[in-house]
Amino acid sequence: MEFKRWRNLSEILPQDVEEFCNSFNSEEPILRELRELATREKVPILLPSAAQLLRLIVKLRKPRKVLEVGTGIGYSTLTIHFASPESSITTVDSNPKRLKTAESFFQRANAPVETVLADGLEFMREALSAGEEYDLIFIDSTKGEYPFYIYKVEALLSDRGIAIFDNVLFRGLVAKDEEEIPDKYKRSTNLLKLFLNQLVKFPNYSTIILPIGDGFAIHQPLR
Ligand SMILES: C[S@@+](CC[C@H](N)C(=O)[O-])C[C@H]1O[C@@H](n2cnc3c(N)ncnc32)[C@H](O)[C@@H]1O
Repeated sequence: MEFKRWRNLSEILPQDVEEFCNSFNSEEPILRELRELATREKVPILLPSAAQLLRLIVKLRKPRKVLEVGTGIGYSTLTIHFASPESSITTVDSNPKRLKTAESFFQRANAPVETVLADGLEFMREALSAGEEYDLIFIDSTKGEYPFYIYKVEALLSDRGIAIFDNVLFRGLVAKDEEEIPDKYKRSTNLLKLFLNQLVKFPNYSTIILPIGDGFAIHQPLR
């Protein structure tokens, strides 16, 4: 199976359904501009349905402090900002070019976002040593690294916190039998499966996996 990754289309929700839903959901002009830039430059960003769900969760939870790993060009960061302008957002990416583009959009949107050029896991290690806590942690980085994020995310979440991982269904590949998965995606797919199995087993946490966008895993302490 070959998927058109650069077009940033979902294989879970059929493209026409994704577009139909999106036609009812408005987005700020600067987000539309970012989506157009992402399509032109072939940069992956949140699919529209995932962006709407993220927006809804942020609106309802109004997190005081947010940590995002995987800024990209800033689409998801600004989605969080517009849903809760009072939230203090720190976003981390290891790609300087993308982070620079994101920063220029944050400036234009007057969004006071703290950007950090770093490896996400490294940043989290330092944040733990500094005693930081976050009410929302949004992870949208390298899928094969997700198993290594779990403990750090849990240690950094506040009691009322919520963690969201994007792309956990990897275009539906996680649901396929081993022989149906193209060789080049086998490793990432298996790591994602391991991640999902570990995530749901954590005591005192509730986890839901939703087939929205490219798959959201939503993980939070039981209260
Ligand atoms: C899918 S893009 C993020 C898209 C963005 N969240 C959005 O929806 O607009 C993934 C980003 O994760 C970054 N990334 C990958 N591995 C990383 C790591 N270990 N630490 C920090 N950033 C990482 C990449 O540079 C890339 O910009």
